[in-house]
Amino acid sequence: MTEDAVSISKTAPMISMRNVDKHFGSLHVLRDINLEVPTGQVVIVVGPSGSGKSTLCRTINRLETIDSGDIAIDGVELPAEGKGLAKLRADVGMVFQSFNLFAHKTILDNVMLAPVKVRRIGKAEAKTHAMELLDRVGIGNQADKYPAQLSGGQQQRVAIARALAMNPKVMLFDEPTSALDPEMVSEVLDVMVQLAKDGMTMVVVTHEMGFARRAGNRVLFMADGQIVEDTDPNTFFTAPKSDRARDFLGKILSH
Ligand SMILES: Nc1ncnc2c1ncn2[C@@H]1O[C@H](COP(=O)(O)OP(=O)(O)OP(=O)(O)O)[C@@H](O)[C@H]1O
Ligand SMILES: [Mg+2]
Repeated sequence: MTEDAVSISKTAPMISMRNVDKHFGSLHVLRDINLEVPTGQVVIVVGPSGSGKSTLCRTINRLETIDSGDIAIDGVELPAEGKGLAKLRADVGMVFQSFNLFAHKTILDNVMLAPVKVRRIGKAEAKTHAMELLDRVGIGNQADKYPAQLSGGQQQRVAIARALAMNPKVMLFDEPTSALDPEMVSEVLDVMVQLAKDGMTMVVVTHEMGFARRAGNRVLFMADGQIVEDTDPNTFFTAPKSDRARDFLGKILSH
């Protein structure tokens, strides 16, 4: 690598999307998305149902293909497939609304699985790291239980620990608390706030405005596959510019 290339990669944004378009059949779900997320930034994505929030997240680690445009993680373009893709995908952790834990494996095994199978890390080392992560999300004492023996909030914290076990550079969260009973929401958000404080680059689809204000550096408002507003949380929630954003906020605030 030349010196120039080194300095470019150092200043590259952690996530870069350029002119990204995606259709599902005739439906245009992402329209010319341009987005740069610097390292350590916490981006909150909001918008009406069907606006493309989940699809945006899923394209960032190529769970969905794109029709055109470029996506790069930490200065490296995502290849469409192959070994390079598997490696880059491992750099991007993802947490979904449904926790997707393996029901027949213990909590500890759930967290150890990918590092052992994908990263080929030794079991002893993987276990030590997994226990550290489970302690970090506050459930080290549940390590030998099975997912069904935990509450939804605890299961979601396991899902976060499992994603962190791969040492990702980026964490994507797609409505991580919307399937939880209200009393469990804050225990998951607290873990995410701490992750943000620790400097993780995060993209979070959520309508939890308290979290957005507490941990978010930036809000993207999406409508019809486009980023319609891109501003700081306070400005977005107090003075949205577009009628669509005002209308959307009116609906979620009246809940
Ligand atoms: N696999 C798919 N095949 C066809 N259409 C899809 C597929 N996934 C999503 N869509 C459509 O793409 C559009 C964007 O969906 P997406 O799930 O990204 O929206 P969203 O903003 O996450 O919505 P929600 O708030 O309901 O989760 C929607 O119209 C949806 O019906
Ligand atoms: Mg969605």
